Order: sequence, then structure tokens, then C-alpha cells
Amino acid sequence: MHELLSAASADAYVDAMRGTVDRVAARFRTTTQPFSGASRAQLQALVDAVDLDGPGRGTAAALREVDDLFAQHAVWFHDPAYTAHLNCPVAVPAVAAEAVLAAINPSIDTYDQSTVGTLMERRVVAWTAARIGYLAGGGVFTSGGTQSNLQALLLAREHALATAPGVGLRDLVVLATASSHFSVQRSAYLLGLAPDAVRLVPVDERGRMRPDALAIAMRHVADDGRHAAAVVATAGTTDRGCVDPLAAVADVCDAADVWLHVDAAYGCGLLVSRTRRHLLDGIERARSVTVDFHKAFFQPVSSSALVVRHAADLRLVAHHHDYLNPAGEDEPNQVDVSLQTTRRFDALKLWTTLRALGADRIGEMVDATVDLAAAVHTLVDADPDLRLLAPTDLSTVLFRYQPDGLDDARADALVGQVRRVLFGSGRALVARTTLDGRPCLKLTLLNPDTTVADVRHVLELVRRAAGSLLEGDDLLRPDVAVAR
Ligand SMILES: Cc1ncc(COP(=O)(O)O)c(C=O)c1O
Repeated sequence: MHELLSAASADAYVDAMRGTVDRVAARFRTTTQPFSGASRAQLQALVDAVDLDGPGRGTAAALREVDDLFAQHAVWFHDPAYTAHLNCPVAVPAVAAEAVLAAINPSIDTYDQSTVGTLMERRVVAWTAARIGYLAGGGVFTSGGTQSNLQALLLAREHALATAPGVGLRDLVVLATASSHFSVQRSAYLLGLAPDAVRLVPVDERGRMRPDALAIAMRHVADDGRHAAAVVATAGTTDRGCVDPLAAVADVCDAADVWLHVDAAYGCGLLVSRTRRHLLDGIERARSVTVDFHKAFFQPVSSSALVVRHAADLRLVAHHHDYLNPAGEDEPNQVDVSLQTTRRFDALKLWTTLRALGADRIGEMVDATVDLAAAVHTLVDADPDLRLLAPTDLSTVLFRYQPDGLDDARADALVGQVRRVLFGSGRALVARTTLDGRPCLKLTLLNPDTTVADVRHVLELVRRAAGSLLEGDDLLRPDVAVAR
């Protein structure tokens, strides 16, 4: 029996992997748009038609079915017309490393399940901490920015409760902004804080936290008899891609002795930029930082970390269990400091990418996406049919289709419709959001190989979709060729 990966099935493993790699590579060679454009009803029918109770059909047949069903209708983040969310194309060495870790399948919880893997994760964390500017930092890989933010706020909560006598859970306040990721609010809820625990600090015209307003908000917290457990600054807001003034925010936090968490899920790529690292100045003064390598370092999902300035802070929520990681044992068990138990060796992917490409090259790729966004901003700004709505520090483009004469209500209604039409065609994927209460389209440019001409093509599709919607023809007809 050769179902399970072992010496006996090594040849079958090679066959399965070779066939899979060939098929996936063929998809990459031939895919010409980010999505097939199949309707949800079509996809539901395909999924429902599969008999999960039937007899096994063999590995080769099952993998062919995966190709037909999943790969054919997947969303391809590497396609230049994929401009929707914070998903990056992935580095080849990272994909190969993913295959290694899938096969060997370590769990980075205890040292005795991972050995060198734990040491490698710790080294990658130490590398990240050093890039942040921490002298004795620590950290742990997580499933994503949401979990990293949750763990950061858990540590801040424990720190506040341990250091502020008489302060209770429902007294705690987290100061963030309206641009902070929604995981901040959700974390506060999960951590048992009061429903009004998250207070939104006023922002400047670019949606960045105003340090003067933060100082006032802190005073209000004290006046209300509450206690500030943490300030969450964002280095790369989800929509605008803006970086809060970290050093000035850190000044306010230091003066009040409040835990500063920087959510750099999006902006962490700047850590390796040789031209834009200064945008993160002050990040080293945060007590904790979220970094999402699966947004900004061309890593496959998942790959994120929570990094702390003092490694000892992670121990605020350390747990020990006799069967796993008994207290007092001299083994470097990452499970002590993780919210997860069994945990993927995601650090291997970044390790391999750093060794294959070098940090500077990754930084150049990050810079290329920021340069691209700047060029697209110029393009949109000069376009009479489009309105550029906000500047960015990173790589998002917020805009609306609104030629002269088109009223606001119609322009607003078009936003969601245009997105749907493009998605339905599969030819370009753009996102929609709201800015200052009004809907707008969003491009998130995370592909360093995308050219200005590629984005011009997407904008042309936006224009055509909007034009046909205005004429009452709500389909981006597949037969209408748009030069690419
Ligand atoms: C600023 C920011 N923080 C956190 C997150 C959550 O990250 P994840 O989706 O990896 O959980 C996001 C996701 O877009 C984000 O933009």
C-alpha cells in the first residue's frame, strides 16, 4: 500500500509531484486572464457533481480533477489584470519550499517535533526583528495579520492588567483610527474588552493618525477613568496604503507609557527597501509589530509574524503542559509563545526566498510596486473620465469613473456594478471600498512585473464596463477586444 508518503511510496510521490508541477506550470504558461469568468451557478454545479462518498479514483485522476475544477477556475494573483486585494504573486523559491514543508510536514510547536525548523524560524524572526531595529527582539510566525494583531493586543492587555493596579478588563481602551484593520476591533471583542473599548483617533487628510489628536484622546481616556492598554498605528493602511507618523505617535505613547503596536501587515516590505525604509522610521519604538510576508514579501499564504521588542513580552501568555512543553524544560519550544499548537513551518519559505534572492532584491521588487503605483496615479489623474481620490505611500490607487456631467449618485452606483461586470468577465479584478463615505474603486498593485501598460488595460476595461452600464448594456462582452 503506497498511500502514505514513505520510502515505499517515494516513486509514487515523484510521479504525483511531477505531474502536478507540469499541470500547474501549463496553467501559468497559458492563463491569459485572472479568472475564468465562470458564474457561481456553474462553479456550484461543478462542485456538487463530485461524489465525495465514491470509491477512490487514484492519485493521478484525483489530481487531474483538481486541475480541471480548481486550477481552471482559480483566481490568479500573478496575472497583471489582478489588481483587487492584498495578494501578491509568489516567489519561485518560496513555492518550492512550500512543497518541501508539505512533504516533511514538521510542526513548529515543540523542539522535538521540529528541531532545526524551530531554530530556523527563530533565526528568521531575529532577522525581521533586526530589520525593525530591535536589539533583543523575539517573535513567532502566525497564520496572518489578523492573528498577529490579536496576539499583540493580548500581550498589551496582559501587560496593562499586570502593571496598572486596580485596572480591570472593562476599563481597558485601545486607541486606533478608522483606517485601522477591522481585526483590531474584532480582537478587542475576542479579548473580552468593553464594547466601547476601541476609540478612533482623528486622522489627517490622508487618513493617518494625528499625534496631537492621540495625545488629546489619551487625556480623555484618563478623564473617563479608563486605561489605555495599547495604541495601534498602521504602517500601510488597507485602502489608502498610508503610513501613520510612527515616530510622533511613539513620542505620545512613550510619554504616557502605553504599549504601541504597529500593524505593518502591508507596509513591512519597506523593511527591505533601500529607498523607502525611512517611511517606517520610528517602528523600532513600537513594543510589537505585525508583519505579513504573504502581502509584501512575495510569500505564499500563509506567512506572517508577530515581532516584539522584548522577547520576554511573549512570555506574558506562555502556557506549559505536561504532555508537550513542561515548565522548566530547557528546550526552545515555540508553542510556549504561540496561540496555535500544531503550526506550519512557514518561515522556511521566507528563509529560502532570502537565500535565493537576497533581501535587497526583494526590496527592489517592493520598490517597483510603489513606483508603479506612482505612475498609475499620474495616469489616472490625467484621465478626464477618471477621478483620482487619494495619494498613497505604498501601492493602492483609489479612483472613480466620473466623466464631466456624470452626477455623484450615478458615479457611486457604478462602482459596485463595474467591479461585478469585470469580475464576471474574468478579464480584470478590481476592488471596491468607500472613501469618506462614498464608494470608489481600488487597485492594489503588488506585482513588480506589472507594467503601466498592463494597468492602462485594466483602466480601459473599467471605462468600457462603465460606458456599457451607462448605455444600459451591463455586460463586458467577451467579443469586444481591448488591446493589451
Ligand atoms: C493593515 C492590515 N492588517 C491586517 C490585515 C489582516 O491580515 P490577514 O488577512 O493576513 O489576516 C490586513 C489584511 O488586509 C491589513 O490590510
